[in-house]
Amino acid sequence: MQAYGEQRSEQASTHFYYPDSISINMEPNSESWLSCIRCGQKYDISRRKYICDRCHGLLEVKHSIPDHFTAEGFSGVWHYAPLIHPAMGNTRIISRGEGGTALYSHESVSKFTGLSSLGMKHEGENPTGSFKDRGMTVAVTEALRLGATETICASTGNTSASAASYSALAGIRSNVLIPSGNISSSKLSQAIAYGARIIDIPGDFDMAMSNVIRIAESRQDYYVLNSINPWRIEGQKTIFFEIMERLRDCRFIALPAGNLGNTSAAGKAIREFKELGLIDDIPKIISVQAEGASPFYNLWAGAGEKLEPVRASTIASAIRIGNPVNWEKAIREIRYTGGMVVTVTDREIMEAKRVVDRSGIGCEPASAASVAGLKKLVDQGRIDRNDSAVAVLTGNILKDTASILEDSDRIPVDAFMQELAA
Ligand code: F0G
Repeated sequence: MQAYGEQRSEQASTHFYYPDSISINMEPNSESWLSCIRCGQKYDISRRKYICDRCHGLLEVKHSIPDHFTAEGFSGVWHYAPLIHPAMGNTRIISRGEGGTALYSHESVSKFTGLSSLGMKHEGENPTGSFKDRGMTVAVTEALRLGATETICASTGNTSASAASYSALAGIRSNVLIPSGNISSSKLSQAIAYGARIIDIPGDFDMAMSNVIRIAESRQDYYVLNSINPWRIEGQKTIFFEIMERLRDCRFIALPAGNLGNTSAAGKAIREFKELGLIDDIPKIISVQAEGASPFYNLWAGAGEKLEPVRASTIASAIRIGNPVNWEKAIREIRYTGGMVVTVTDREIMEAKRVVDRSGIGCEPASAASVAGLKKLVDQGRIDRNDSAVAVLTGNILKDTASILEDSDRIPVDAFMQELAA
């Protein structure tokens, strides 16, 4: 058996949690490698690679199956270390205790969707307020292990906030490319506050992303923290591990889809739990896109085999993406699980958000797309009301507040006093 010792030894003596000095020791009796999803070409994990040299396919991390799957003494993401990075050896990890988020249910939201009981996995409860932290703890740990001195990412906001926080903890400078004027001020403020260098792109997310890919090709010293980095996917798998462990009979898992990293992570997690014999039935992935930013839906619903980029437009700025980098992984996972891709209008997203917010749970607009998508499929009779389903709420309610303020009913104090006197 591997030794998982050493973790939090310093905390034990001082009562403090040092997010930059936790170490995990996995005896490398297991093996990991990078593999091209198109041609199967293998690469050593000591290389900083995201795309196959031979055929330009996306790379994924593969592991030899470990003899057990949890790391004792850890909670959250690193609890699953043997399924994320079993060959990491004795490594310093950068962790803020991400993961282990609540799985809520609330009658008003279930009723809204038409489901008898809907689960909501609240990823907004992660340290920087979104699911990105689960991937970031792994990718930034990897950046350290590989000796990177700079990190870089493109972002609609949440990735930049998370990348900036974790890079700061690791003592690595972060560079974030953002679509100028097209990003929520709360998310941008986070990235600025954590000390990232902000690079304004006079265009959309897709333009920022293509710049990052171009820079990564020529500059090995800039470590990419977008979900094209296969280690991000490894960390994000744990959302779905947690859901499957809590809800053995889960039939549908719905999530908002932008760059499609999370859809890819869902499929990889499900596939691995199935291979380990930890589940019998495979939950189906429901990937939900905003109608104005739905190239993945077009691919899934149409006859073509290749994603056609679109110019994206939606109120849900987190998923305003027209050329998602992970589409090839994601379509494979939707097909593997027998899942579906669905679109929802901005109105449907904001209706769902209002219900989630008013329940007291709350989420950012993009996150509510998962609830809106489930409602649509129940209305259409493609999901039965008694099916067990989970919507992933990907971001915190405070991540994108402009739409809330626009929609608020405030009354002057005089009117309030009159009402009290009446
Ligand atoms: N929900 C939220 C709140 C997000 O921030 C994102 C992506 C998604 C859903 C979509 O996930 O890209 O894995 O399909 N945000 C990225 C960013 C693009 O830069 O923060 P995906």
